[in-house]
Amino acid sequence: MNVHGLLEEPDVSALIDLEEEIQRLKKDLNAVILAHYYQESEIQDVADFIGDSLQLSQQAAKTPADVIVFAGVHFMAETAKILNPSKQVLIPDLKAGCSLAEGCPPHLFRRFKEKYPGHIVISYINCSAEIKAMSDIICTSSNAEKIINQIPPDQPIIFAPDQNLGRYLIKKTGRNLVLWSGICIVHEMFSEKKLVQLKVLHPHAKVLAHPECEPRVLQHADYIGSTSGILNYVKQSSDHEFIIATEAGIIHQMQRACPDKTFIPAPPEGDCACNLCPYMKLNTPEKLYLCMKNRAPEITLDEDLRLRALRPIQRMLEMS
Ligand code: 13P
Ligand code: SF4
Repeated sequence: MNVHGLLEEPDVSALIDLEEEIQRLKKDLNAVILAHYYQESEIQDVADFIGDSLQLSQQAAKTPADVIVFAGVHFMAETAKILNPSKQVLIPDLKAGCSLAEGCPPHLFRRFKEKYPGHIVISYINCSAEIKAMSDIICTSSNAEKIINQIPPDQPIIFAPDQNLGRYLIKKTGRNLVLWSGICIVHEMFSEKKLVQLKVLHPHAKVLAHPECEPRVLQHADYIGSTSGILNYVKQSSDHEFIIATEAGIIHQMQRACPDKTFIPAPPEGDCACNLCPYMKLNTPEKLYLCMKNRAPEITLDEDLRLRALRPIQRMLEMS
């Protein structure tokens, strides 16, 4: 008991070897663990595959496993379920959402769409199955530009739900996209002022940024790309110092791949840990173990909705 008379939290790792148990359950269930780069490092270390949103959905589409354990946020696990209706898809914490998905409610998006007849809808994968079902094509940050460039130039396009990625794509493709005004609460928080101060302190550092950042941050970037794009840049670069303007969880893979290089997380506006995604960090190694042991929480979907959401995802996979 602690001084307040409450039970102290038990140290689970002192009772069982979590990693060993997770590996055992993986074999028992014939499961695959897919993890996003923003997951905490202990989760990344037990995963079978670590990737960005596109790579994770490609893996989910081709896995021979019976059970997919998705260490990521809800829309990612839901995409895996849309692609694999007969497989069980588990997620360590069902409440691991995303501000972009939550900021685009289907009833409001339906009305928004009605204002722009004749437009096709390209939606960023960071959205709910309902929004996917209202879309023509899904994209991720690594294939959005390629997909937009395949659309005939006279075809008007709505892009949802991330306005920063949308603005970046307008600049890159020269297309006049109609944007839904959603934001990522993590990438929106980077401070331009502190980033510029860091550049002065580290004049040789390259700034690498995710396109979900605001334009005032992106203007200082030497490279803009998806999480896997940023990681590949670091691996191939002859530079030794990098300022990373995306969720800091990705630095784990950078340090593993390039132990001699230095990675500085871009600072958020306040004195907070706002460069960590609060949704991604709801998943913990303990919850990962428990979801495999209990085979819950599980992602379930209405079959009609699944089929409507599947079409635009398949189009993305074909066009990538
Ligand atoms: P990536 O597809 O680049 O991994 O991005 C996912 C995400 O949620 C970014 O915030
Ligand atoms: Fe969503 Fe942003 Fe978290 Fe990515 S980092 S899951 S976009 S809230």
